[in-house]
Amino acid sequence: MSDPVAVKIAKTIPGSATALAVTACSDRLSKVVGVRKAAMTRAGFTGAAGQSLVLNDGELTRVILGLGPSETAGSVQLRTAAALFARAVNSHRKIAFEFPAAELLPSLDFDEGVRAVTEGLILGAYSFDTHKPKAAERTRTDSATIAVGDQITAARIAAERGRVTAHAVWFARDLVNEPGGTLTPTVFADRAAERATAAGLTVEILTEKEIAAERLGGIIAVNLGSEEPPRLLKLTYEPRADLMQEEGGEFPTVALVGKGITFDSGGLSLKPADSMMTMKCDMAGAAAVISTMTALPELDVAVRVVSFTPMTDNMTGGNAQRPGDVYTARNGTTVEVLNTDSEGRLVLAEALVLASEEEPDAIVDLATLTGACMVALGNSIAGLMGNDEKFSDKVKQAAARSGERVWQLPLPADYRKGLDSQVADLRNIGNGRLGGASVAGLFLQEFVEPGIPWVHLDMAGPAFLDAPDGEYPKGGTGFAVRTLLELLETWDSTEES
Ligand code: BES
Ligand code: MN
Ligand code: ZN
Repeated sequence: MSDPVAVKIAKTIPGSATALAVTACSDRLSKVVGVRKAAMTRAGFTGAAGQSLVLNDGELTRVILGLGPSETAGSVQLRTAAALFARAVNSHRKIAFEFPAAELLPSLDFDEGVRAVTEGLILGAYSFDTHKPKAAERTRTDSATIAVGDQITAARIAAERGRVTAHAVWFARDLVNEPGGTLTPTVFADRAAERATAAGLTVEILTEKEIAAERLGGIIAVNLGSEEPPRLLKLTYEPRADLMQEEGGEFPTVALVGKGITFDSGGLSLKPADSMMTMKCDMAGAAAVISTMTALPELDVAVRVVSFTPMTDNMTGGNAQRPGDVYTARNGTTVEVLNTDSEGRLVLAEALVLASEEEPDAIVDLATLTGACMVALGNSIAGLMGNDEKFSDKVKQAAARSGERVWQLPLPADYRKGLDSQVADLRNIGNGRLGGASVAGLFLQEFVEPGIPWVHLDMAGPAFLDAPDGEYPKGGTGFAVRTLLELLETWDSTEES
């Protein structure tokens, strides 16, 4: 973990920068200052979103970043472009980004654009060097300046919000990238608690004994095969009273739940070696939830937010649960565990029961839950499922604004019978492999109090990548932090739910 790049706002490009980004729209290539359109076209640069053209003018490396057609170019394209730039020039100490002129992108909201560029610059410069002391010594970017012209004050405020967001994403990535052998449930909870306390959140850590006393049977069941005790971290964010808009009003409450399997071997239903290699990432949902929580105070979010993140690894010790074993969940449901690799839903179920007991206005859970979701949507898109179309739409729109990709999958009521068990209330896997993401969602739904709007995000694909993708690096991506922050920052308490 090196320090995140410092983003500065200035009127013009500082002379000290050795790498400079300028943007281009595909339908306005002739508007790029200092480079002829013919030169760009000859080099194969069309201005498509995600494209970049590197020009070396002596001391200065200039990078032209494509935003696509001006009609669709906005903060989403700017964020990605800024990230690609920061990654490409990460050996330059001082870099600069020329914010596009208002004439180029007339429909762009300036504040949103500056925030997006700030996020992109920080996100693109990320690298995980904790276990690479030599890499940590190399020259890297320490500051990035956005040249914005005259609107310095507005830009500084927007950039500060971008900084807070991107730092939260960095924290999630660092947690996900840390190996399962060092980021045990105990270490995970302690690291999260330290950061949460510093941020001003209320922190509660449940130990193994307390988890058992609270009858969180699914967490105990998954933990049986492990030498490491489980944890359950509860964080609470209370907005400052002065953030209340209406007199005598009450803040809405949102509950967040995240899967925190610090390593998933599959348990006795052991994974093949190749599938196990990246399974330190199986706590990415919890990491994203915790990181989101730590950013809420600095963003002055006007929603009360409570989070529950169950933490354990899924191992094969002598006391591990056997396929066919039955446990009782906190809400009294009995579950027959036919596949111990279907562990995420067991720990999430308990956290969803706890979340429901808070009587929140909505619940969002995040989990690297199924390979089936990756088969359906690939590595760049998360699956979204929910019990309330209006709330699902709200989360989809927040994701779209934040530049994160989600796609809704159904929760077909008639698929629920696939979870009927001969010996218990439920079995933890369906009858076959088909529709696995939806079947997992239906299992979770059994533990959400009916009437509470709930969204489940299966982020097995985008949580961890084997190659960079836009603003996401190889390895832990911090996926969903931006979506959750956007959702909570723009929550409209006056709206009927
Ligand atoms: N953690 C995995 C899902 C996963 C797979 C996350 C790949 C990230 C990348 C989860 O616990 C799991 O093993 N799911 C099983 C469920 C099956 C046994 C019903 C799966 O998807 O194979
Ligand atoms: Mn598993
Ligand atoms: Zn898992």
